[in-house]
Amino acid sequence: MLLQDKVAVVYGAGGPIGQAIARGFAGQGARIHLAGRTPAKLDVAADAIRGDGGAVATARVDALDEKSVADFVENVVKKDGRLDISVNVIGYQDIHKPLLEISTEEFLQPIVNATRTQFLTTRAAVPHMIRNGSGAVLTFGGSGNGMSGLGGFKIALDAVEALRRQWAQELGAHGIRLITLRTGGIPESLPDSLPEDERREITSMIDGATLLRRSATLADVGNIAAFAASDLARPITGTEINMTCGAVLE
Ligand SMILES: NC(=O)c1ccc[n+]([C@@H]2O[C@H](COP(=O)([O-])OP(=O)(O)OC[C@H]3O[C@@H](n4cnc5c(N)ncnc54)[C@H](OP(=O)(O)O)[C@@H]3O)[C@@H](O)[C@H]2O)c1
Repeated sequence: MLLQDKVAVVYGAGGPIGQAIARGFAGQGARIHLAGRTPAKLDVAADAIRGDGGAVATARVDALDEKSVADFVENVVKKDGRLDISVNVIGYQDIHKPLLEISTEEFLQPIVNATRTQFLTTRAAVPHMIRNGSGAVLTFGGSGNGMSGLGGFKIALDAVEALRRQWAQELGAHGIRLITLRTGGIPESLPDSLPEDERREITSMIDGATLLRRSATLADVGNIAAFAASDLARPITGTEINMTCGAVLE
């Protein structure tokens, strides 16, 4: 298995993307620690992983709080002896409004939250990875051309891409790799609460923008994340893995 004996943390594991990534890791033999603010959501993800025979633990963690993140990582290393993979896919509560309608605070919120949480979780993981001489830090989403009226959302994604490039430079000498899993949107992750006609419309918009006339599934997300975090991907760092089914060409 690709991730046998590896230990992974996934922040935002109560959401569909975090769950998919955690499941992909567990399916390849990693021991997984799921972090989020709502234990009930983490329990659902953990039950699915245990059902597949995976090794998993959950922890209530606020990934925007320095002490909460630091304590969590210390506990993981105390329990499992190491940390190999760190993934932060928390939602940023972005406010979509055009420039002339958005307040300063609303504009800055996703940018500050995105950079703060990626900073906190990466910095907490890195000392343990340096000790191993290897590690993988993954982010999900990627940036793009933006779209009218998105407030600070796309700017936050751009900022995370800049962090990925910066830290890949700083940490490469320690064998630590940083990779963005670049998506064009995962229709399966749309919330259950969405009315069926809206779901169909969004899905057809996402699928229609691809060259393959289909988009990545949650299982694809888990498989590609597992590959990116594994030693098979050892030459890959500081870049994106493009899983947009051709919606974005390099
Ligand atoms: N789904 C897609 O197609 C897609 C496309 C592009 C980018 N993305 C990005 O990928 C990420 C994951 O997507 P998703 O659909 O799984 O997102 P999501 O459901 O909106 O968020 C994932 C989880 O983040 C947790 N969270 C929020 N704030 C947190 C905090 N301070 N500390 C710890 N956990 C926190 C939430 O749980 P609690 O509130 O219970 O903590 C939530 O379950 C998001 O950043 C999203 O913007 C997704």
